[in-house]
Amino acid sequence: MHSVAELRLRARARLPRVVFDFIDGGAGNEATLQRNESAFQDMRLLPRVFAPCRSRDLSTNLLGQRYGMPFGVTPMGLCNLAWPGTDLGLARAAAKAGIPYALSTMASTSIEDIARAAPDHTWFQLYVGGDAPVADGFLERALAAGIRTLVLTVDANFAARRLRDRRNHFALPLRPTPRLLADLLTHPSWSLATLAAGAPTFENFKPSASNPRRIDIADMLKALAQAEINWGLLAHARARWPHKLIVKGVLHPQDAQRIAAMGADGVVVSNHGGRQLASVPTSIEALPAIRQAVGPDFAVLLDSGVRSGDDIAKALAAGADFVLLGRTFLYGTGALGAERGPAVTIDILRGELDTAMAQLGCSTVQELRSAAFFPPLSWPNRQSGGSQ
Ligand SMILES: Cc1cc2nc3c(=O)[nH]c(=O)nc-3n(C[C@H](O)[C@H](O)[C@H](O)COP(=O)(O)O)c2cc1C
Repeated sequence: MHSVAELRLRARARLPRVVFDFIDGGAGNEATLQRNESAFQDMRLLPRVFAPCRSRDLSTNLLGQRYGMPFGVTPMGLCNLAWPGTDLGLARAAAKAGIPYALSTMASTSIEDIARAAPDHTWFQLYVGGDAPVADGFLERALAAGIRTLVLTVDANFAARRLRDRRNHFALPLRPTPRLLADLLTHPSWSLATLAAGAPTFENFKPSASNPRRIDIADMLKALAQAEINWGLLAHARARWPHKLIVKGVLHPQDAQRIAAMGADGVVVSNHGGRQLASVPTSIEALPAIRQAVGPDFAVLLDSGVRSGDDIAKALAAGADFVLLGRTFLYGTGALGAERGPAVTIDILRGELDTAMAQLGCSTVQELRSAAFFPPLSWPNRQSGGSQ
């Protein structure tokens, strides 16, 4: 396997359609999903010659911590659907590579198990639903588990219209229909592995669930939609969380500015991987205005549509401090399982990023941040960037 595109194709062949579509799909007509990738392809990096970069250092600082590479695993619920053991496999591989693994509130492995597997590299992502004490309980568990970075996601409190999931009647627990049976029978390696491991569920909700053995995704989404989302939520999280706090799902520069002013430590420019609305800007389009609004010293991370080391280089050149990837990692485990998949995916990204840096004439991530580029065609005020 030599690229994320190859991992995706292998994952598509190995996973039942209902599962692959849940991972791969987006909202509405999937226009945002498609543009997330094409905007990166539209952007061009402009190499410099005679630059001494025989050896490259991919490590970087983010929020006071040194990471081995300028990218990590973005939070995703139900990762173990991609392959049993995906959360743990990804967390262990991330720790080994010195990069962060962000565990979702909706994860299929508990906060405590992941924090044990990757003590210095686990971040915790919080969704706040209708029940505030439950959210506070998650914060207490994350703190007790030794986690020091909180990601507060603020762009997904309304159930999105994901047409593939609707067509496939996606539900969790999976509903036994003749169509599902046929899907499972024609993807035997996933079905047998999942049968042996047990179907994934929302592990973090087990202690508060009325029936821990049968937590329904529809109930989870309903609880999210009941939350009163306002700026008080950020103030509350800020007051309760004594360590680094990053707000994820920001596209408007004024929101980013207010988040910074309220004492958060960073934002993730993200459209949730095109999973929430088909009509919003891509992250790489939204990035320059956000960087301008918050200034050079505030941490700006980016996700949505990153599928290669070249894309990581582009995001950094365009103003991001750090990049997160979602589906890319699930394609890896869907294709190659929970042990090999994460390692191979990280190796592909590392190799591509290193090659891009060498070709551009950058020996450090810092230099990559000022690399020259032609912007994506869709940038609002198109001007070339970097030190040209
Ligand atoms: C299967 C799946 C589950 C996700 N679950 C969550 C989640 O629980 N919390 C969250 O903040 N974002 C979640 N996201 C969104 C990701 O964090 C991220 O914004 C998105 O995947 C980035 O786009 P990419 O997949 O193109 O890299 C999920 C994404 C996927 C693909």
